[in-house]
Parts: sequence; C-alpha cells; structure tokens
Amino acid sequence: MCGIIGILGEKDVTPLLVEGLKRLEYRGYDSAGVATLSNGHITRCRAPGKLANLEARLEKQPLAGTIGIGHTRWATHGAPTEDNAHPHATEKVAVVHNGIIENYGALKEELETLQCRFETETDTEVIAHLVTHYLKQGMSPVEATNASLDRLEGAFSLALIFAGEHNLMIGARQGTPLAIGYGDREMYVASDSYALAPLTKKICFLEDGDRVHVTREGARIFTNDNKEVQREIRITAQSGAAAGKGAYRHFMLKEIHEQPAVIGDTLNSFINPATGQIHMPEDILVALEQAPRLTLVACGTAFYACMVAKYWFEQIAKLPCEIDIASEFRYREAPMPENGMALFVSQSGETLDTLEALRYCKKQKQTILSIVNTIESTIERESDFVLHTLAGPEIGVASTKAFTTQLTTLACLTLALAVRTGAVDEAQEMEMAEALRHLPRQVAAVLNDSETRIQEIARALFDARDMLYFGRGSLYPVAMEGALKLKEISYIHAEGYAAGEMKHGPIALIDENVPVVVLAPGKDSLFEKAASNIQETVARGGKILLVSDAEGTKKLEKSSGWVITLGDVHPFVMPILYTIPMQLLAYYIAVAKGTDVDQPRNLAKSVTVE
Ligand code: G6P
Repeated sequence: MCGIIGILGEKDVTPLLVEGLKRLEYRGYDSAGVATLSNGHITRCRAPGKLANLEARLEKQPLAGTIGIGHTRWATHGAPTEDNAHPHATEKVAVVHNGIIENYGALKEELETLQCRFETETDTEVIAHLVTHYLKQGMSPVEATNASLDRLEGAFSLALIFAGEHNLMIGARQGTPLAIGYGDREMYVASDSYALAPLTKKICFLEDGDRVHVTREGARIFTNDNKEVQREIRITAQSGAAAGKGAYRHFMLKEIHEQPAVIGDTLNSFINPATGQIHMPEDILVALEQAPRLTLVACGTAFYACMVAKYWFEQIAKLPCEIDIASEFRYREAPMPENGMALFVSQSGETLDTLEALRYCKKQKQTILSIVNTIESTIERESDFVLHTLAGPEIGVASTKAFTTQLTTLACLTLALAVRTGAVDEAQEMEMAEALRHLPRQVAAVLNDSETRIQEIARALFDARDMLYFGRGSLYPVAMEGALKLKEISYIHAEGYAAGEMKHGPIALIDENVPVVVLAPGKDSLFEKAASNIQETVARGGKILLVSDAEGTKKLEKSSGWVITLGDVHPFVMPILYTIPMQLLAYYIAVAKGTDVDQPRNLAKSVTVE
C-alpha cells in the first residue's frame, strides 16, 4: 500500500524523489517524507497528510543530497502523524518500508532492553534500530542489513541509506514488489515501474527474498542465502508522461469519460477487424475447455467483475464457476479439481490477498490465468497466461475504467470460449460480438445524454444517510459495485442487494429517508420481478431512483421518484452499460458533498498488505 522510492544520482535528488512520490501517491496519502545524506549525515523532512504538505515544507527547508529515499504512507501501525511518517531513522540509518513486520512487537521488546528509545508507533522503526544495533557491533552496512533482514517476519519491501555511505543504498523484497531502475550514472529503486517511468525505462524486478546493493555504477542482487543472482533487465512500456487531469476537475471524472476509448482499445485487442469475430489465445481456450470448473478470485471492484463473469461463463459458455473474495479464499483450503483453471482479476496486479490466492491455486495444480491492467505486475509474472485490460493508468482511487475494461475482457473471453465449445451458434456469436462492438458508442451516449440529469439527481440525494441498490441477474453485481462506489467516495452508507433478497431483510430499512436505486431494464428477462420489487418498496414509502431503458421507464415512471433512461442494449453487455450511471451518480453525490473524490479517506488504490 505504501509507496517507496530511492535515488542515487549526481545532483540533488529531493525534487526527483517528490516527482516519483506523486506517481506513487495512489498507494497511500496519510503522510509523506524524504531522507537524504547531506555531508554524510542523515537529514529528513516529513509531513502528515497529502504529498502537497511535504512539498510545502520542502520549499521552506530544501533538503540537499545526491542520495535519498522517499515514502508515501497508508497507515497500518500508528496514526497518520508526522512522528509515524517514514523515513524512520537513527543517526546511522534511514529506512522506508512498504508492508508489515509481523514480529515487530518481539523485536521492539528485545531492542528496548538494549536501551533503544522508540519514538513512533510504527512497526518499521524496529528496522532502523535493529540495523543500528548491528552497525554498533562493528558490522558493515551490508552485514548489518542482512543480519536484520534475517530476523524480519511478514511482507515488506525496503530501501535503506546509511550515514557516511554516499554510494550505497540497500533494497529488499519479501512479498511486496520492488523495482530497480537503471539510469545514466543514476540508479533507482521504487515500488513500481510507473514511479520511475520519467527517469528510466530500464527496469529489473526483484524476486521474493532478493536483496539488492545499489551504487551509482549498478546493482548487485543476492538471494536471502547470499548467492549473487542475475535478474532480467527489461525495457518497460510505461509512459513517463505526467499523469494530468486535463480539463477535468478530478481524475475520476476523466477516467469515467475515457471509458468509450479504453473499452474500444480493449475490444480491439480481441476482435479480428476482418471478420468481426472475437479472438483469444488458443492455449487459454484449450485450458478453459478442459477445465471442469473455473475459479474466479479477486478483491473489491475486481471481485464484482468476477461476479458478473460468473453469470456470463455459466449462462453463455456453460462453464461451472466458483467465485470468491481473495482474502477469504486464500485461507479457505478449498479442494480444487484436477485440470481446473483459476482466474485472477486485478487492476494493479499487486493486491496481496489476490496474489496469495493465486499461489494457493498454483499449489493445487490449477492453470493460472490473470486479467491485469498494470503490465509486468507480480500477478502477471506468476501466472501461466495473462490478458491485459487496456485501461491505461488509473489514478482515482475509486476504480471505474479498470472495472469496465475487466468486464469487456471477461465478456470477450466468455464469447470466445462459448464459440469454441459450441455453446453458442454462429448467429448468436455474431449478435453478441456486435453488441460488444457497439459498446463504446453506447457508453459515450450514456455520458452525453445522462450526465446532466444525474448531476441534478445527485443534488437531490447528497444528504441521504443510507442508500440501497437493487439489481437482478448480472445487474446484481452492478448494484453492489454502485453501492461500493458511493460509500468509497461520498461516505454515505450504501448496500447492494439482489432484488429478490429484498424481502429477506433490507425491506426493513426502507422508509422515506432511504433512497433506493433499482436497476431494471425493460428488455431484461427478469423485468417483471424487478417491477414487483419496486411496487413493494413504494408501498412502504421508499423513494425509487429507476435506472432503465425506454420500455422499463414507460412502465415504472409513475412509481419512481427519479428516472435515468439509457438506450436499448443487448442483455449480454447490460452490466457494462448500467455501470456508467452508477459511477456518475457516486461521483456527483461526492462532489455535492465536497469530499476528496480522488483520494477518499482511509482508502488506497493498491492494497499490498493483508
Ligand atoms: C482496493 C482499491 C479498489 C480495487 C481493489 C482491488 O480496494 O481501492 O479500487 O478494486 O483494491 O485492487 P486490484 O488492484 O487487485 O484490482
């Protein structure tokens, strides 16, 4: 979750560290800090809150030094205060850390008996004291760091600099990612290659257990049993262009509006322009065809993409599916079938629970397919097969275009499989492929036609305390995603339910103060059932926001307080289209409430701790 960066260069590194931290801020924004070596001494500048606070401090008190480390924090141990902000340091060493040191309590007790004085509530501070303890015993920085790393339990990536050592930075990776960047007499380490993209495209990713000694001349990598190893240096395709908001007020709104283009790009990577047919790598389809069951695992929004995909794979491709949240699945000890296939969906490709679930499935001899947005991520590297969503960098913490491109990819995969197994005939294939091809245009139409209306509705709803979202079939996960979007950025309590479950509990919550969003297209085979749910809600004083097509609107307009009418759409792609008004509604309610839309409180975009 936290972002770390380190630079050894020939000019002052602080401005570059701050630029890198800007590209890592999506990982957390509780506090930020940098440490450099100035005349051989460790100097630090830290500030609670967003990176802008650190920048303001650095403007008043610039930090000199040609070697330095930086950190942007998502708090785990200890409140988001300046004291708890990284880098943590003694007079001999400074360290930045992403992850959790699970045995920090025992180490802290031990170090306290050795007269170490702790100043923070963090787990990370033990690393600074432990390394210092070994340095004081006469060990070199490399020996002291190795001795310390051998004692740490948990998941971490680290970067350390040492007083008096102008040409040494040590990095380590265990469980959370660390990339090494190669420049011209300048070397870098960072949590991801995106942070380094403006500085270099030459990147090497450490493997778990690796330790790296970085100097201006290069990097030497060792395993945790001290064997020197070579890791491949790749040229990454990351864009170094500054990620800007353009004319949009927030990244989230920009990313919502990018959807016609990025859904189109993702579709184009799977559609044969000559025939209009969907193409998927042959070996993925063979593995899926042989699998008695597909297990789909993910977290957050990506999990809702899996939920939609279950409807598709089962109804269209007739492939039995199991879905689960990664944090549950990884400890559930699920028995898995022979020749089974497991599919992991992740925007970042670094979500720790998803990665651990993948590793469990690998041990169970499942074939591993992943759908990721971030190229060269850990999840991609540990998979047998990968499909990329072409959403581009997603900066807003609330996921939008990553979700719809995940759905697009999953829809293409479903259709390609169904064609291969004969679960759909040629006419159905053409109809569904056409529905997919029309999607970018239809998404653009929703943005053009409904945005102003949704803004008005948002102004009527923004002071709600609770909201309910109902959907049926493949729109049930969209209701859950709509509720998630709302709670993430507006802090309004919201729940998504299968409409059929309404009578089993949520109906008790309904009164005139609880707006109810109902996704009920008239073209949907379950429309009549959704219509009954609406009448039951209205009968109890509930206020309905209906999201439907022209047919559904005509039938239910009178019973609804507000209506958003979308164009007619093929049922196959309904979940993708109906997601768009959910995103806009959450966005405009959050704007009306004045919350920090792109960096909502307590959240981080990439969750690399449990
Ligand atoms: C966090 C993010 C969500 C995201 C989820 C899974 O909760 O805030 O937007 O859906 O992690 O992340 P992933 O990168 O694996 O898709």
